[in-house]
Amino acid sequence: MNEAGAKILFVDDEKSILSSLQRLMFDEPWECQFVQSAKEALTFLEKNAIDLVVSDVVMPEMDGIEFLAEVQRRYPSIIRIFLTGFARRENVTRALTEGYSQQIIPKPWLDQELKDVIRSALRQSDQQKKHGPKFQELINSIPLLPPLPKSYSQVQDCIIGEEVDIEKMVDLISRDVAITSALLHWANSALFGQRFRVDTVKKAIVVLGTNIVKSLILSESVNRTLAGNLPTSAGFDLLKFKCHSIATATMSCMLIKSLHGSDAELQDRAFIAGLLHDMGKLTAASFFTEKFAAAVEKAKEGSCSLYEVEKELLGADHAELGSFLAEWWTLPPYITNAIRWHHEPIFGAIDQEVVSAVHVANLLSHQFGYGDDGKKTAYEIAEEYRESFYLTDERLEILQVETGTILKALCCRQ
Ligand SMILES: [Fe+2]
Ligand SMILES: [Fe+2]
Repeated sequence: MNEAGAKILFVDDEKSILSSLQRLMFDEPWECQFVQSAKEALTFLEKNAIDLVVSDVVMPEMDGIEFLAEVQRRYPSIIRIFLTGFARRENVTRALTEGYSQQIIPKPWLDQELKDVIRSALRQSDQQKKHGPKFQELINSIPLLPPLPKSYSQVQDCIIGEEVDIEKMVDLISRDVAITSALLHWANSALFGQRFRVDTVKKAIVVLGTNIVKSLILSESVNRTLAGNLPTSAGFDLLKFKCHSIATATMSCMLIKSLHGSDAELQDRAFIAGLLHDMGKLTAASFFTEKFAAAVEKAKEGSCSLYEVEKELLGADHAELGSFLAEWWTLPPYITNAIRWHHEPIFGAIDQEVVSAVHVANLLSHQFGYGDDGKKTAYEIAEEYRESFYLTDERLEILQVETGTILKALCCRQ
């Protein structure tokens, strides 16, 4: 990210605090402004564009909570952070859950920690800008962006360069029954072509490879974290969503296999991108529950696709939301790209074949009944994609049967 020139406004009624912050920020490439009251800050914001506001909570006249609520109302694209000694106070917690503030830094702060939080907030702001002001507002209304699941980063830590600490990885994975069972199923599935039974996590890791293992852990953890607490009224069916993702991953991998039989890395990429392609639906359902449920209902009734209705009701579709989260977690660009363009593959700038495979596999998933958006109308595949993946009637039949077998083994019955 280009951090230089990022604009930050610090607000605190104590002059000594502002002076320490000023000294601390001196060698950073950011343009920092320091004001002593919320009123002064609001006047400053009327005339100046700012990326990030860091505010004290307890201040005379207008306090930090009122101030950040006002910033959220007037300038929803600005990222808001509290710097406070009262992190546990009820009203501060409320400010977090209601989204007035997106992060809290405790006072007294640790210099490096404060800089890291600011750096990460600026990275978020930079990414949001690329998507335009409407999207910025939408993302900034999310109280806290979910962090990269811990289970994923722990497994990632077992891989240093080309070296993999397989014993440590086995130990981590074996603690989770659902992930262990999913790995064993996949390792024994026809997709990964094993002739011998894979009955241990260690063998499964060897058969699948660390990238596939990581993606399965990521999707399982994301499903749990984001969909775990969703009410039934959210219009989100987790089982259907999982089946749709698995079917898309399977077919996307098969499509690439039919073109590049010996390129295992490309097949893995297609599988991973297919598995994660609709991650944005979970994001939409968990953070914009009512609007997403309304979008699902409207899509069921009308002739538009879910993503088109999402654009209308939310201001962004699940492809944008999912790719934003993938970027935020710094997942590899081919994943972000496939998530972003799986409905409009023509715009996918890199890994065109993977994006196209995910696009076609997604449409086929819907056609074969593994859809999750309640649409009844046909999902047509453009002629150019039918040709490039040699999708004859016979080939489609094979894809449908093989996908059905794999999904059955993974307990996904529609
Ligand atoms: Fe989608
Ligand atoms: Fe999809």
